[in-house]
Amino acid sequence: MVKANAYGHGLLETARLLEGQADLFGVHSAMEAETLLKAGLDTPILVMGPILPHQFRFLNPARVHLTVTSRETLEYLRDGGFSYPLHLKVETGTNRQGVPEAEVPEAVGTIRRCGLPLVGLSTHFANIEDTTDHAYAQGQMERFETLRAAVEAETGPLQYLHMACSAAILLFPASYGTLVRAGISLYGYWPSRETKLSWIQEHGREDEVALRPALAWKTFISQVKAVPKGAYIGYGCTHRVTRPSRIAVLPVGYFDGYDRQLSNRGVVLIRGQRAPVVGRVCMNLLMVDVTDLPEAGAGEPVTLLGRDGDEEVSADTLAEMAGTINYEILARLGAHIPRLVV
Ligand SMILES: Cc1ncc(COP(=O)(O)O)c(C=O)c1O
Repeated sequence: MVKANAYGHGLLETARLLEGQADLFGVHSAMEAETLLKAGLDTPILVMGPILPHQFRFLNPARVHLTVTSRETLEYLRDGGFSYPLHLKVETGTNRQGVPEAEVPEAVGTIRRCGLPLVGLSTHFANIEDTTDHAYAQGQMERFETLRAAVEAETGPLQYLHMACSAAILLFPASYGTLVRAGISLYGYWPSRETKLSWIQEHGREDEVALRPALAWKTFISQVKAVPKGAYIGYGCTHRVTRPSRIAVLPVGYFDGYDRQLSNRGVVLIRGQRAPVVGRVCMNLLMVDVTDLPEAGAGEPVTLLGRDGDEEVSADTLAEMAGTINYEILARLGAHIPRLVV
């Protein structure tokens, strides 16, 4: 899965690293597919999200697979004579994009009548990361198996059978089909604490799964200022220092994907030590207290995400502080930030 700018890691940077290692690159939109096509990579692309009628024209059926999630998509394809390899997404309980069970025979019938190339069948789990009770996921796997058997009875064996996201890859080998859709785990993160707990319950230990975050996010101190005891920091005067303090200004804000919820909560690493975010995160700037880091000055490297010495700030840490999930912390990293592949 390289959708969402490769979970914030950089679509092209990531895709280039994965060339030759993946059967397909999974993206959400036609625009993402177009970016990959223009980069001249060889790996075929699977678009998983909706396609607008005019977008069928500029993709390349020799390189791009499409996901069919509705009758409308099939009608556009049929009427336009577009011959993209198709993956039919079937509903098994997420009630998001899948074609409802009762409509699957009609969809398969239309695909076959129109001579459209059906190459895959897929579905998506609803309740796998948020729980250690996997009865719902098991039910989805069973419904998918029933639908697979019915569809393949009509079409013969399909090349791509897929439902497994990271949590399923980690927990349910029975869900693998012929293709898995690895997202968050590819970037070195567990999907959730519940997934990790489920793994430990099953295997007794976690260390067999060596997931290490692939990305670090760095900036620098643009200036340090001394403020007297009692001074307020930033918009809304939401932080007041209780001693004479040194406040470092960093050229990063919520525009760049540093969540405003991290105001007065976040933490950064400087010289291998933690420094707290003080005051509100601004659009392009944020402030951290470096009173206890007397040598920290302008130009000093700062780690917003990643390791520095023995300390680490992970997307899990920031997600917990911001009241969200690691996926969102990563996916919202501004696309304008330069990505350096190390
Ligand atoms: C359809 C689909 N498949 C696979 C994934 C990958 O999930 P994960 O990042 O949990 O591996 C996603 C992520 O949102 C998705 O929407």
